[in-house]
Amino acid sequence: MMKKIKTADKLLLTPGPLSTTGTVKHAMMRDMSTWDADYNRIVTKIRKKLVELATAKTGLYTAVLMQGSGTFAIESVLGSVIPEEGKLLVVSNGVYGRRMAKIASVLKINFVEYEAEETGQPSLNRIEEILQGDQGITHVAVVHIETTTGMINPLTIISKIVKKYNKIFIVDAMSSFGGIPIDIFNMQIDFLITSSNKCIQGVPGFGIIIALKDELEKCGGRARSHSLDLYDQWETMENDSGKWRFTSPTHTVLAFQKALCELEKEGGVEARYIRYRENHDLLVEGMKKLKFKTVIPENIQSPVITSFHYPKSGKFNFEKFYKKLKDRGFVIYPGKLGKMDTFRIANIGNIKKKDIKNLLKAVGKSVFW
Ligand SMILES: Cc1ncc(COP(=O)(O)O)c(C=O)c1O
Repeated sequence: MMKKIKTADKLLLTPGPLSTTGTVKHAMMRDMSTWDADYNRIVTKIRKKLVELATAKTGLYTAVLMQGSGTFAIESVLGSVIPEEGKLLVVSNGVYGRRMAKIASVLKINFVEYEAEETGQPSLNRIEEILQGDQGITHVAVVHIETTTGMINPLTIISKIVKKYNKIFIVDAMSSFGGIPIDIFNMQIDFLITSSNKCIQGVPGFGIIIALKDELEKCGGRARSHSLDLYDQWETMENDSGKWRFTSPTHTVLAFQKALCELEKEGGVEARYIRYRENHDLLVEGMKKLKFKTVIPENIQSPVITSFHYPKSGKFNFEKFYKKLKDRGFVIYPGKLGKMDTFRIANIGNIKKKDIKNLLKAVGKSVFW
């Protein structure tokens, strides 16, 4: 007899993998061939839907799915779109911005990094100065929501500067796409990157690139990696009706298809944004009552993930706090800031108001210091 699958696990208050619905998990309970036409039709539908989520100007854009986690998709973009004679400006204010600089360095891409403070937005004047002063720069990359802190970077204004100087704009929208309204056309983003296990609320397994077709078409033969060649992956998906070049994460793709349906059922990105925002507000209000302080000023704080300072008490110990919350059914996230002690709570995923209320009760009961 088949064993019943346990789907009620601990609630993940983490920025991906995240808690998914039972129905998304259930959608994985099928074996499909990666080369099969029915499966490839699903892939094609997913690609079309992703472009529709990104903009109303669907004819100008295309979506490519890439095996691996989000970082693989970022590496695929940086390694495939910047020509040998090109130069990248990475604007960083956290771990994920710095990771793009690291990728550029490993791939031997000519790049400069403008590293801003982790707890503030990058200076727009500085970005403009760099672009003015260095005519060699051809591409600019920035993270939309810096998951390191939960900060939301001013994409619209950065985009205006990038386009004033006619540069290609690459955006790591890993933890924002699907949860925060973004119009890729209005924001003049040339390459946007996200993954299956973030705000669209699927499970991990592939990254997503939404690209301006005119720019992607120029990228043939530029890749610094065979398996992560964005152009080749796109060409195969496009010409072979949804086929991936190599074995694809079929179960993850099926779960993602379901997750996209559930996003639509919820009311689309706008409705999801409202849920995230309301849950974030509830979380912060409750945590403040429990004497926790947030790290990022509210006006630049995203509704996706929130950093909190450690309590002042010398008796506080994150591992102990984490364990107490885990025993009560909640998994939170350690901090990643260089200079201060913080922890993070994310509220993307299948998380409802009652979950946040229960979490706050559990936090209250876990105060041991
Ligand atoms: C903004 C951002 N960029 C990149 C990544 C890397 O994604 P992955 O861990 O899936 O490789 C993450 C992961 O949380 C992220 O939040």
